[in-house]
Amino acid sequence: MKKRVLSGIRATGRLHLGNYLGAIKGMIELQNNPSYQCFYMVADAHTITTPYSPSELQKNRVEIIIDYLAAGLDPEKSTLFIQSQINEHFELAYYFSSIVSIARMQHLPTYKEKVKQYPDANTMALLNYPVLMAADILLYKADLVPVGIDQEPHLEVAREIARKMNQIYKTSFPEPKRFATSGEYIPSLKGEGKMSKSVEGSYINLTDSLDEIVKKIRSIPTSTEVGGPIIGGIKTLFILSEIFLPKNLYQEFKDKYHNKTLKYVELKDTLAQAIYEELKPFQEKRSQIVSDINYVKKVILDGAEKASQVAQETIKEVKEKMGLL
Ligand code: TYM
Repeated sequence: MKKRVLSGIRATGRLHLGNYLGAIKGMIELQNNPSYQCFYMVADAHTITTPYSPSELQKNRVEIIIDYLAAGLDPEKSTLFIQSQINEHFELAYYFSSIVSIARMQHLPTYKEKVKQYPDANTMALLNYPVLMAADILLYKADLVPVGIDQEPHLEVAREIARKMNQIYKTSFPEPKRFATSGEYIPSLKGEGKMSKSVEGSYINLTDSLDEIVKKIRSIPTSTEVGGPIIGGIKTLFILSEIFLPKNLYQEFKDKYHNKTLKYVELKDTLAQAIYEELKPFQEKRSQIVSDINYVKKVILDGAEKASQVAQETIKEVKEKMGLL
Protein backbone atom coordinates (compact mmCIF):
# COMPACT_ATOMS: atom_id res chain seq x y z
CA MET A 1 0.00 0.00 0.00
CA LYS A 2 1.16 3.52 -0.78
CA LYS A 3 2.29 5.72 2.08
CA ARG A 4 0.13 8.75 2.67
CA VAL A 5 1.18 12.39 2.72
CA LEU A 6 -0.79 15.36 3.99
CA SER A 7 -0.02 19.05 4.12
CA GLY A 8 -1.83 22.36 4.23
CA ILE A 9 -1.40 26.10 4.08
CA ARG A 10 -3.57 28.67 5.83
CA ALA A 11 -5.61 30.98 3.63
CA THR A 12 -4.16 34.21 4.96
CA GLY A 13 -3.31 35.83 1.62
CA ARG A 14 -0.70 35.57 -1.05
CA LEU A 15 1.95 32.88 -0.72
CA HIS A 16 5.56 33.89 -0.17
CA LEU A 17 8.93 32.36 -0.97
CA GLY A 18 9.07 30.72 2.49
CA ASN A 19 5.83 28.82 1.83
CA TYR A 20 7.10 27.79 -1.58
CA LEU A 21 10.54 26.59 -0.52
CA GLY A 22 9.61 25.14 2.87
CA ALA A 23 6.32 23.46 1.95
CA ILE A 24 5.24 23.48 -1.70
CA LYS A 25 8.56 22.20 -3.11
CA GLY A 26 8.34 19.21 -0.79
CA MET A 27 4.67 18.70 -1.68
CA ILE A 28 5.57 18.56 -5.38
CA GLU A 29 8.50 16.21 -4.81
CA LEU A 30 6.31 13.71 -2.94
CA GLN A 31 3.47 14.03 -5.43
CA ASN A 32 5.85 13.01 -8.20
CA ASN A 33 7.07 9.97 -6.29
CA PRO A 34 4.75 7.05 -7.10
CA SER A 35 5.30 5.53 -3.63
CA TYR A 36 3.08 8.19 -2.08
CA GLN A 37 -0.58 9.12 -2.10
CA CYS A 38 -0.85 12.84 -1.41
CA PHE A 39 -3.56 14.99 0.19
CA TYR A 40 -3.01 18.73 0.06
CA MET A 41 -5.54 21.06 1.63
CA VAL A 42 -6.25 24.71 2.23
CA ALA A 43 -6.33 25.10 6.01
CA ASP A 44 -9.23 27.56 6.05
CA ALA A 45 -10.44 26.41 9.46
CA HIS A 46 -7.02 27.20 10.89
CA THR A 47 -7.25 30.65 9.37
CA ILE A 48 -10.08 31.62 11.72
CA THR A 49 -7.95 30.96 14.82
CA THR A 50 -6.63 34.54 14.58
CA PRO A 51 -8.58 37.71 13.63
CA TYR A 52 -9.63 37.62 9.96
CA SER A 53 -12.08 39.00 7.41
CA PRO A 54 -14.78 36.53 6.22
CA SER A 55 -14.94 38.04 2.73
CA GLU A 56 -11.14 37.84 2.37
CA LEU A 57 -11.13 34.25 3.59
CA GLN A 58 -13.77 33.25 1.07
CA LYS A 59 -11.57 34.64 -1.69
CA ASN A 60 -8.23 33.47 -0.31
CA ARG A 61 -9.12 29.83 0.09
CA VAL A 62 -9.72 29.54 -3.64
CA GLU A 63 -6.56 31.56 -4.33
CA ILE A 64 -4.50 28.94 -2.48
CA ILE A 65 -5.95 26.17 -4.65
CA ILE A 66 -5.01 28.28 -7.70
CA ASP A 67 -1.50 28.70 -6.26
CA TYR A 68 -1.23 24.94 -5.74
CA LEU A 69 -2.20 24.29 -9.35
CA ALA A 70 0.11 26.99 -10.69
CA ALA A 71 3.03 25.63 -8.66
CA GLY A 72 2.62 22.21 -10.26
CA LEU A 73 0.35 20.27 -7.93
CA ASP A 74 -1.68 18.03 -10.20
CA PRO A 75 -5.22 16.98 -9.28
CA GLU A 76 -4.67 13.78 -11.29
CA LYS A 77 -1.93 12.81 -8.87
CA SER A 78 -2.82 14.58 -5.59
CA THR A 79 -6.10 15.21 -3.83
CA LEU A 80 -6.47 18.99 -3.51
CA PHE A 81 -9.21 20.09 -1.15
CA ILE A 82 -10.56 22.67 1.26
CA GLN A 83 -10.32 21.57 4.90
CA SER A 84 -13.64 22.95 6.15
CA GLN A 85 -15.56 21.06 3.46
CA ILE A 86 -14.69 17.81 5.23
CA ASN A 87 -16.59 17.83 8.52
CA GLU A 88 -14.62 14.84 9.80
CA HIS A 89 -11.65 17.15 10.54
CA PHE A 90 -13.68 18.87 13.24
CA GLU A 91 -15.14 15.64 14.50
CA LEU A 92 -11.75 13.94 14.89
CA ALA A 93 -10.28 17.07 16.52
CA TYR A 94 -13.05 16.89 19.10
CA TYR A 95 -12.34 13.24 19.88
CA PHE A 96 -8.62 13.99 20.14
CA SER A 97 -9.27 16.90 22.50
CA SER A 98 -10.49 14.38 25.07
CA ILE A 99 -6.94 13.03 25.50
CA VAL A 100 -4.93 16.28 25.31
CA SER A 101 -4.28 18.39 28.40
CA ILE A 102 -4.83 22.14 28.42
CA ALA A 103 -1.38 22.64 29.97
CA ARG A 104 0.33 20.86 27.04
CA MET A 105 -1.33 23.22 24.57
CA GLN A 106 -0.60 26.33 26.63
CA HIS A 107 3.12 25.58 26.63
CA LEU A 108 3.53 25.46 22.87
CA PRO A 109 5.78 28.24 21.51
CA THR A 110 3.49 28.81 18.52
CA TYR A 111 0.52 29.40 20.85
CA LYS A 112 2.48 31.81 23.05
CA GLU A 113 3.64 33.79 20.01
CA LYS A 114 0.10 34.20 18.68
CA VAL A 115 -1.25 35.28 22.07
CA LYS A 116 1.48 37.89 22.23
CA GLN A 117 0.59 39.05 18.72
CA TYR A 118 -3.19 39.13 19.39
CA PRO A 119 -3.68 39.56 23.17
CA ASP A 120 -7.42 40.20 22.70
CA ALA A 121 -7.98 36.98 20.76
CA ASN A 122 -6.77 34.27 23.12
CA THR A 123 -9.50 31.85 22.10
CA MET A 124 -10.34 28.18 22.46
CA ALA A 125 -9.83 27.77 18.70
CA LEU A 126 -6.29 29.12 19.00
CA LEU A 127 -5.50 26.81 21.92
CA ASN A 128 -6.92 23.93 19.93
CA TYR A 129 -4.91 24.75 16.78
CA PRO A 130 -2.44 21.83 17.14
CA VAL A 131 -5.25 19.37 17.92
CA LEU A 132 -7.05 20.29 14.70
CA MET A 133 -3.76 20.00 12.84
CA ALA A 134 -3.19 16.53 14.30
CA ALA A 135 -6.71 15.63 13.15
CA ASP A 136 -5.91 16.91 9.62
CA ILE A 137 -2.89 14.64 9.41
CA LEU A 138 -4.20 11.55 11.19
CA LEU A 139 -7.59 11.57 9.49
CA TYR A 140 -5.68 10.50 6.36
CA LYS A 141 -3.23 8.33 8.37
CA ALA A 142 -0.39 10.32 6.81
CA ASP A 143 3.17 9.17 7.47
CA LEU A 144 4.82 12.22 5.96
CA VAL A 145 4.08 15.93 6.26
CA PRO A 146 5.94 18.36 4.00
CA VAL A 147 6.17 21.57 6.07
CA GLY A 148 8.80 24.07 7.19
CA ILE A 149 10.74 23.60 10.40
CA ASP A 150 8.48 26.06 12.27
CA GLN A 151 5.76 23.38 12.24
CA GLU A 152 7.85 20.80 14.11
CA PRO A 153 6.26 21.49 17.54
CA HIS A 154 2.85 20.81 15.97
CA LEU A 155 4.07 17.54 14.49
CA GLU A 156 5.34 16.49 17.88
CA VAL A 157 1.80 16.99 19.21
CA ALA A 158 0.39 14.91 16.35
CA ARG A 159 2.81 12.08 17.20
CA GLU A 160 1.87 12.24 20.88
CA ILE A 161 -1.81 12.07 20.00
CA ALA A 162 -1.25 9.12 17.63
CA ARG A 163 0.66 7.21 20.32
CA LYS A 164 -1.90 7.93 23.00
CA MET A 165 -4.88 7.04 20.82
CA ASN A 166 -3.21 3.77 19.79
CA GLN A 167 -2.40 2.98 23.40
CA ILE A 168 -5.78 3.80 24.90
CA TYR A 169 -8.15 2.85 22.09
CA LYS A 170 -6.01 0.46 20.00
CA THR A 171 -6.41 2.60 16.88
CA SER A 172 -3.84 2.30 14.07
CA PHE A 173 -2.48 5.82 13.58
CA PRO A 174 1.05 6.22 12.18
CA GLU A 175 3.43 8.64 13.89
CA PRO A 176 3.78 11.32 11.21
CA LYS A 177 7.21 12.70 10.35
CA ARG A 178 8.15 15.98 8.74
CA PHE A 179 9.42 15.87 5.18
CA ALA A 180 12.10 18.56 5.04
CA THR A 181 13.27 20.51 1.99
CA SER A 182 16.54 22.41 1.66
CA GLY A 183 14.46 25.56 2.27
CA GLU A 184 12.96 24.41 5.56
CA TYR A 185 13.80 27.76 7.17
CA ILE A 186 13.80 30.83 4.96
CA PRO A 187 15.00 33.88 6.84
CA SER A 188 13.41 37.33 6.70
CA LEU A 189 14.57 39.92 4.19
CA LYS A 190 15.03 42.17 7.21
CA GLY A 191 17.89 39.96 8.39
CA GLU A 192 16.21 38.92 11.62
CA GLY A 193 13.75 36.08 12.21
CA LYS A 194 11.96 34.13 9.50
CA MET A 195 10.20 35.18 6.34
CA SER A 196 6.59 35.60 7.45
CA LYS A 197 3.29 36.92 6.11
CA SER A 198 2.72 38.76 9.36
CA VAL A 199 5.96 40.78 9.15
CA GLU A 200 5.80 43.56 6.56
CA GLY A 201 8.99 43.82 4.49
CA SER A 202 10.12 40.30 5.39
CA TYR A 203 8.90 38.45 2.31
CA ILE A 204 8.80 38.06 -1.45
CA ASN A 205 5.41 37.05 -2.85
CA LEU A 206 5.25 34.38 -5.52
CA THR A 207 3.42 36.89 -7.71
CA ASP A 208 5.97 39.72 -7.35
CA SER A 209 7.30 41.29 -10.57
CA LEU A 210 11.02 41.44 -11.36
CA ASP A 211 11.06 45.12 -10.32
CA GLU A 212 9.46 44.33 -6.98
CA ILE A 213 11.89 41.47 -6.36
CA VAL A 214 14.89 43.65 -7.25
CA LYS A 215 13.63 46.36 -4.89
CA LYS A 216 13.05 43.91 -2.05
CA ILE A 217 16.38 42.09 -2.45
CA ARG A 218 18.22 45.42 -2.64
CA SER A 219 16.59 46.42 0.65
CA ILE A 220 18.17 43.48 2.54
CA PRO A 221 20.42 45.20 5.10
CA THR A 222 24.12 44.57 4.46
CA SER A 223 26.97 46.19 6.35
CA THR A 224 29.17 48.41 4.21
CA GLU A 225 32.24 46.31 4.92
CA VAL A 226 32.49 42.91 3.26
CA GLY A 227 34.43 39.95 4.60
CA GLY A 228 33.14 39.87 8.20
CA PRO A 229 31.00 37.20 9.85
CA ILE A 230 28.02 36.04 7.78
CA ILE A 231 25.11 37.15 9.94
CA GLY A 232 21.86 39.16 9.65
CA GLY A 233 20.95 40.36 6.16
CA ILE A 234 24.17 38.96 4.69
CA LYS A 235 23.20 35.52 5.95
CA THR A 236 19.77 35.89 4.33
CA LEU A 237 21.46 36.84 1.04
CA PHE A 238 23.74 33.83 1.08
CA ILE A 239 21.00 31.39 2.13
CA LEU A 240 18.83 32.53 -0.78
CA SER A 241 21.82 32.54 -3.14
CA GLU A 242 22.69 28.97 -2.25
CA ILE A 243 19.14 27.94 -3.14
CA PHE A 244 18.71 29.96 -6.32
CA LEU A 245 22.15 30.35 -7.92
CA PRO A 246 24.15 27.67 -9.73
CA LYS A 247 26.73 26.16 -7.36
CA ASN A 248 29.79 27.67 -9.05
CA LEU A 249 28.28 31.16 -9.15
CA TYR A 250 27.29 30.92 -5.50
CA GLN A 251 30.84 29.85 -4.61
CA GLU A 252 32.28 32.70 -6.67
CA PHE A 253 30.23 35.29 -4.75
CA LYS A 254 31.17 33.68 -1.46
CA ASP A 255 34.89 33.74 -2.34
CA LYS A 256 34.56 37.39 -3.36
CA TYR A 257 32.94 38.11 -0.01
CA HIS A 258 35.77 36.53 1.91
CA ASN A 259 38.49 38.23 -0.11
CA LYS A 260 36.60 41.50 0.19
CA THR A 261 36.04 42.15 -3.52
CA LEU A 262 32.27 41.59 -3.48
CA LYS A 263 29.92 44.33 -4.64
CA TYR A 264 26.62 43.73 -2.86
CA VAL A 265 24.53 45.20 -5.63
CA GLU A 266 26.00 42.70 -8.07
CA LEU A 267 25.10 39.74 -5.86
CA LYS A 268 21.69 41.21 -5.06
CA ASP A 269 20.69 41.83 -8.67
CA THR A 270 21.94 38.42 -9.81
CA LEU A 271 19.94 36.79 -7.01
CA ALA A 272 16.80 38.83 -7.76
CA GLN A 273 16.97 37.81 -11.42
CA ALA A 274 17.39 34.13 -10.47
CA ILE A 275 14.40 34.24 -8.10
CA TYR A 276 12.27 35.85 -10.79
CA GLU A 277 13.32 33.19 -13.33
CA GLU A 278 12.11 30.48 -10.96
CA LEU A 279 8.81 32.28 -10.31
CA LYS A 280 8.05 33.23 -13.91
CA PRO A 281 6.57 29.87 -15.00
CA PHE A 282 4.44 29.87 -11.83
CA GLN A 283 3.16 33.36 -12.62
CA GLU A 284 2.40 32.51 -16.24
CA LYS A 285 0.56 29.32 -15.31
CA ARG A 286 -1.32 31.19 -12.61
CA SER A 287 -2.77 33.73 -15.00
CA GLN A 288 -3.90 30.91 -17.28
CA ILE A 289 -5.66 29.07 -14.45
CA VAL A 290 -7.35 32.23 -13.16
CA SER A 291 -9.06 32.58 -16.53
CA ASP A 292 -10.68 29.14 -16.15
CA ILE A 293 -12.44 29.34 -12.81
CA ASN A 294 -14.81 26.49 -13.67
CA TYR A 295 -11.84 24.16 -13.82
CA VAL A 296 -10.76 25.34 -10.36
CA LYS A 297 -14.27 24.74 -9.01
CA LYS A 298 -14.23 21.23 -10.41
CA VAL A 299 -10.85 20.49 -8.81
CA ILE A 300 -12.25 21.59 -5.44
CA LEU A 301 -15.41 19.51 -5.83
CA ASP A 302 -13.53 16.36 -6.90
CA GLY A 303 -10.98 16.85 -4.13
CA ALA A 304 -13.68 17.05 -1.47
CA GLU A 305 -15.23 13.83 -2.74
CA LYS A 306 -11.97 11.91 -2.65
CA ALA A 307 -10.87 13.29 0.73
CA SER A 308 -14.28 12.56 2.20
CA GLN A 309 -14.06 8.83 1.39
CA VAL A 310 -10.84 8.36 3.33
CA ALA A 311 -12.02 10.64 6.15
CA GLN A 312 -15.19 8.62 6.68
CA GLU A 313 -13.26 5.35 6.98
CA THR A 314 -11.01 6.73 9.71
CA ILE A 315 -13.88 8.27 11.65
CA LYS A 316 -15.76 4.99 11.56
CA GLU A 317 -12.77 3.16 13.03
CA VAL A 318 -12.25 5.81 15.75
CA LYS A 319 -15.93 5.89 16.72
CA GLU A 320 -16.08 2.12 16.98
CA LYS A 321 -12.97 1.94 19.13
CA MET A 322 -14.08 4.83 21.34
CA GLY A 323 -17.46 3.25 22.01
CA LEU A 324 -19.34 5.83 19.98
CA LEU A 325 -20.83 3.50 17.40
P1 TYM B 1 1.33 28.34 7.34
O1 TYM B 1 0.16 28.79 6.55
O2 TYM B 1 1.82 29.21 8.44
O3 TYM B 1 2.57 28.08 6.44
C1 TYM B 1 2.48 27.24 5.32
C2 TYM B 1 3.76 26.47 5.11
O4 TYM B 1 4.84 27.33 4.81
C3 TYM B 1 5.94 27.02 5.65
N1 TYM B 1 6.69 28.25 5.94
C4 TYM B 1 8.02 28.34 5.84
N2 TYM B 1 8.97 27.45 5.48
C5 TYM B 1 10.25 27.87 5.46
N3 TYM B 1 10.63 29.14 5.79
C6 TYM B 1 9.70 30.07 6.15
N4 TYM B 1 10.08 31.31 6.46
C7 TYM B 1 8.33 29.68 6.19
N5 TYM B 1 7.18 30.34 6.50
C8 TYM B 1 6.18 29.45 6.33
C9 TYM B 1 5.29 26.46 6.92
O5 TYM B 1 6.23 25.68 7.66
C10 TYM B 1 4.19 25.65 6.34
O6 TYM B 1 4.65 24.40 5.91
N6 TYM B 1 -0.12 24.93 10.61
C11 TYM B 1 0.15 25.09 9.21
C12 TYM B 1 -1.08 24.79 8.35
C13 TYM B 1 -1.66 23.43 8.57
C14 TYM B 1 -1.03 22.19 8.27
C15 TYM B 1 -1.98 21.19 8.68
C16 TYM B 1 0.19 21.84 7.73
C17 TYM B 1 -2.88 23.16 9.11
N7 TYM B 1 -3.09 21.83 9.18
C18 TYM B 1 -1.68 19.83 8.53
C19 TYM B 1 0.47 20.47 7.58
C20 TYM B 1 -0.46 19.49 8.00
C21 TYM B 1 0.56 26.54 8.99
O7 TYM B 1 0.36 27.36 9.81
O8 TYM B 1 1.07 26.84 7.84
